[in-house]
Amino acid sequence: MTSIEHWAAVDDYLVATAIRPDAAHECTREASHAAGLRPIEVPAGQGKLMGLLTELAGARSVLEFGTLGGYSTQWFAAAVGPQGTVTTLEYEPRHAEVARRNLDAAGLGERVDIRVGAALETVQELIESGAGPFDVVFIDADKANNANYLEAALQLSRPGTVIIGDNVVRGGRVLDDSGTGADAADVAGIRDYLQRQGEDPRLDGTALQTVSGKGWDGFALAIVRDVEPGVAGAE
Ligand code: SAH
Ligand code: DHB
Ligand code: MG
Repeated sequence: MTSIEHWAAVDDYLVATAIRPDAAHECTREASHAAGLRPIEVPAGQGKLMGLLTELAGARSVLEFGTLGGYSTQWFAAAVGPQGTVTTLEYEPRHAEVARRNLDAAGLGERVDIRVGAALETVQELIESGAGPFDVVFIDADKANNANYLEAALQLSRPGTVIIGDNVVRGGRVLDDSGTGADAADVAGIRDYLQRQGEDPRLDGTALQTVSGKGWDGFALAIVRDVEPGVAGAE
């Protein structure tokens, strides 16, 4: 009863009965897979949740780290409405091309600015150009840099900004010290992110475990709080 096949079947059932992602979202998922991108986009239920949160927050601007084929991007782009914008940061030009095609095909391309490059650099350019504050931030690129992305996100936030971090459980590997190389760096980045969320007075959040066809994972969600003047901007 607790196999990944069972989680996937229940997730498919929930999508079919209660979630109702529109055909344009599924087109983007399928076109991304057909283009050879890894099938690591958020599950439909999480995409829908992030779209609903974006609407509930009345958000008009979203910043995303990690575009892939634009699947999560599309949930945000639909949720911000015709006056809204999504800025999404992607390292791989090929992924950005697929995402551009998918978002244009969905009729949402004009709302989305895809910045190609290492997100640590492109986000610094955003900060230096005076961009933001963003209403919602989704952190879903290379996990080793998660805490750095969180710090950059805070510089592009205001009190009330919602910051979501994906993949904070990774099949339980978040607690596993035996990994090496990139795996260990990813785990360290995720732990650093969670610890900062818990310790930084500017952040007030939660973290939830999830199961789906992608297995056992989770996400963190926090709201940026107003803290006394002088603290919020302090480095
Ligand atoms: N948010 C997407 C999934 C993103 S997968 C969705 O849910 O639909 C992670 C993406 O981050 C990949 O496309 C990968 O190429 C990108 N990435 C990896 N390292 C990066 C970096 N340093 N800067 C920007 N993007 C990066
Ligand atoms: C990976 C990245 C993701 O953003 C995700 O949701 C799942 C897996 C990965 O790089 O393996
Ligand atoms: Mg992810």
